[in-house]
Amino acid sequence: MKGNIALVGFMGSGKTVVAKALAKELGLQSVDLDDIIEQREGRKITDIFAQDGEPYFRKVEKEIVGDISKGSKLVIACGGGVVLDSENMANLKSSCTVVYLKTNADVILKRTKDEAHRPLLNVDNPKKKIEEFLDSRSEYYEQADFTVDVSDLSIEQVVDKIKEIASE
Ligand code: S3P
Repeated sequence: MKGNIALVGFMGSGKTVVAKALAKELGLQSVDLDDIIEQREGRKITDIFAQDGEPYFRKVEKEIVGDISKGSKLVIACGGGVVLDSENMANLKSSCTVVYLKTNADVILKRTKDEAHRPLLNVDNPKKKIEEFLDSRSEYYEQADFTVDVSDLSIEQVVDKIKEIASE
């Protein structure tokens, strides 16, 4: 295993909660890229999108991926769109075992429908949007080193699976 673990996957796939639990079990530190972006910018992601647009958000996200990839002993919960940029993926892969938490549109809709902090899903027909995104993004997520299908797994089960991967 490399020095860090990076969790990638769609919004609502459980990256943040799994990162925290996994880090605790492995004696690593969990970091959440979205939290770091909000801290650095001093505002919420919805406000960054609304005030400066997605390209600006992606620029900040990319800088932070570059910085964080230099760290060690981390479990990194990545934002759902991190994988879309090939340099982000290269940076992550240089220091992290990258694990894709894979799930389906129904599970994602169920987990995200009552939340408003994800600007890309604040639309009239989120299910359709999720399906379109999954369609266009799957090939990027699949570039991860390992894939764990989390649709029917508890957090503990996901953590156990990643621990197995990490011990290989
Ligand atoms: C995004 C996912 C979000 C956040 C931003 C954009 C995406 O992170 O980075 O709203 O493009 O999928 P989570 O996956 O942690 O919700």
